[in-house]
Amino acid sequence: MRTFIKHISQLATLAQGSDTARKKQEMSNLGIIEDGALLLKDGIIEAVGTTEQLRQQYEKELQDAIVFNAAGKLVTPGLVDPHTHIAYGGSREQEFEMRLQGKSYMDIMNAGGGIHATMRMTREATEEQLIEQTTKRLDAFLKHGVTTVEGKSGYGMELETELKQLRVMQKLQQTHAIDLVPTFMGAHAVPAEYKGREDAFVDYIIEEMLPVVATEKLAEFNDVFCEKNVYTPEQSERILVAGKKIGLTPKIHADEIVSYGGAELAAKVGAISAEHLLKVSDEGIRAMAKAGVIACLLPATALYLREQAADGRKMIDEGVAVAISTDCNPGSSPTVSMPLVMNLACISMRLTPAEALTAATFNAACAINRQHLVGSLEVGKQADIVMWHVASYQELQYLFGVNHVQSVWKKGKKVI
Ligand code: NIG
Ligand code: FE
Repeated sequence: MRTFIKHISQLATLAQGSDTARKKQEMSNLGIIEDGALLLKDGIIEAVGTTEQLRQQYEKELQDAIVFNAAGKLVTPGLVDPHTHIAYGGSREQEFEMRLQGKSYMDIMNAGGGIHATMRMTREATEEQLIEQTTKRLDAFLKHGVTTVEGKSGYGMELETELKQLRVMQKLQQTHAIDLVPTFMGAHAVPAEYKGREDAFVDYIIEEMLPVVATEKLAEFNDVFCEKNVYTPEQSERILVAGKKIGLTPKIHADEIVSYGGAELAAKVGAISAEHLLKVSDEGIRAMAKAGVIACLLPATALYLREQAADGRKMIDEGVAVAISTDCNPGSSPTVSMPLVMNLACISMRLTPAEALTAATFNAACAINRQHLVGSLEVGKQADIVMWHVASYQELQYLFGVNHVQSVWKKGKKVI
């Protein structure tokens, strides 16, 4: 059975005929087709073109297709969120108030709250409870047009709970419409038991955790919170290099609170992406551009922590491929709204509306190595599609704070 979506006012295909992350001017080229059409079959995109072209070329196939009219609508690829901490227990609304009263994110964490608080609640939660809570978040992502989500462990900081988080994501990958991409993040904080013995915890991650994660194929990526008073660049490098040797691709939470050489380290270890980058140095930006590290920027986190967002404009101008993400987590960014993140990429990082859409689709897919499947609407790719209640991508970014999703198709099936 085929699905035919016709008379799309603006079809943003994001197609450029190449599978490498978009840089500079390429980020502005959305492959727009006016009065566009898509033909879907068996979960895959069978044809893309104008309504007239597809009508002529597929006359026979269209006879028994389900037809949707998208007049007045924008259609884009399903959004991709390349950085979340979605599989966690509990919530931290009291910390929100503490921060508004003047406590910093790091003060709260160093006093045993923050990531440590979620660690305790995640350790206590059963697998069933985590599945239930994570499912609700995934449902909300889907309603906001997100069809692929990366998710990190990191609220266990001991083998059993880290594995529990990764298994929850593995199970949801089989049952939920959203595609989940798992990342191991054992080095998300230093657990209290290891305070002052950080290197011993690094050894534990390398010797006891990474081999199990790799052998059981529970993650594709290996992430580290490289930050002052968390993990030094040297400790981060040891963890990332050890993971790389057993098939886990490096990612780094880099230069979020202070400038700490995280972007430079990302370039050195060949990380696929570096995240946050609020305080990245100029050398760090140049190193990422040269090494082809994708900058994964999280403007909702900066807003929520009342910080100046990363300089996305500068990074694009310097030749870094930029992706954006919610960073969905219970402390610094409890949101699932990629549309809001696109708005904020424009408002607080001065990306253009076109660049923001590229950052939330194709470049986001590149940041989790899914660009061959999703992130653009091209023949043979997965039919992950969003139809929006607006007529253009310019309008999508301009009318901010609103969920403009009209419908969502995942692998060719209408799910919203
Ligand atoms: O990406 N910066 C470190 N980790 C997360 C926050 C996790 C939390 O606060 O629970 C982040 O913002
Ligand atoms: Fe994060």
